[in-house]
Amino acid sequence: MERNNLSMFVLFFLLSLYIGHPEIKVRFGQDVTLDCRSPRGVNITLLEWSRPEIKTDGYVFFYRNGRSYENYQHERFKGRVELTDPSMKNGDVSVTLKNVNINDTGTYECRIRTSDLSSGQRVQNDSRTSINLTVDSGELRVLCCRVPMAE
Ligand SMILES: *[C@@H]1O[C@H](CO)[C@@H](O)[C@H](O)[C@H]1NC(C)=O
Ligand SMILES: *[C@@H]1O[C@H](CO)[C@@H](O)[C@H](O)[C@H]1NC(C)=O
Ligand SMILES: *[C@@H]1O[C@H](CO)[C@@H](O)[C@H](O)[C@H]1NC(C)=O
Ligand SMILES: *[C@@H]1O[C@H](CO)[C@@H](O)[C@H](O)[C@H]1NC(C)=O
Repeated sequence: MERNNLSMFVLFFLLSLYIGHPEIKVRFGQDVTLDCRSPRGVNITLLEWSRPEIKTDGYVFFYRNGRSYENYQHERFKGRVELTDPSMKNGDVSVTLKNVNINDTGTYECRIRTSDLSSGQRVQNDSRTSINLTVDSGELRVLCCRVPMAE
C-alpha cells in the first residue's frame, strides 16, 4: 500500500516535470510561488498579475516604474502577495501568494512590459503567460464509516 502510494507519487512527479508548470496544486493554508520570468537585461516597466475573471475589481499584484501599488490590488489579495525576489534579479517576476484558500483556485495571468534602451532607441515588449492553481480543501474525509453489526 505504502509502496503503491510512493510509486504513484513518483509517477505524478515525473509527469509534472514532463508537462512543465502550467498547473500547480497546493493545500489549503499553504504559501505558493507563481512563477514568471522576464527576459534579462531589459527594464521592467510594468508587471501585472491578475485573475482574468475578477480583474475589473483589481489585480493580484501590480507594479509599475519601480514600485508596487496596493491600492490597485483586489481586496482578496491585499497583504497576501509579494515579489518572491524583491530585486527582480535576472528577470524573476514571480510572486508568492500566502495562506491560500479555496477561492484562490483559478487562472493567474502574468503580464510584463519591458523597455530596452540599449540600441539607442526605446524598444518595448509586452508578454503574457498564465498558470492554473488548484487549492485542495484539506478537509478530512471519512473513508470508512461502517460499524460492524453486532450479532
Ligand atoms: C487553465 O484553465 C483554463 C480555464 O479553466 C483552461 O482553459 C486552460 O486550458 C487551463 N490551462 C492549463 C495549462 O491547464
Ligand atoms: C470564498 O467565497 C465564498 C463565496 O464568495 C465566500 O462565501 C467565502 O467566505 C470565501 N472563502 C474564503 C476563505 O475567503
Ligand atoms: C534601464 O533604465 C536605466 C535608468 O532609466 C537606464 O539608464 C538603462 O539604460 C536602462 N536599461 C535598458 C537595457 O534599457
Ligand atoms: C518579446 O518577449 C517575448 C517573450 O519573452 C519574446 O519571445 C519576443 O521575442 C520578444 N519580442 C521582441 C520584439 O523583443
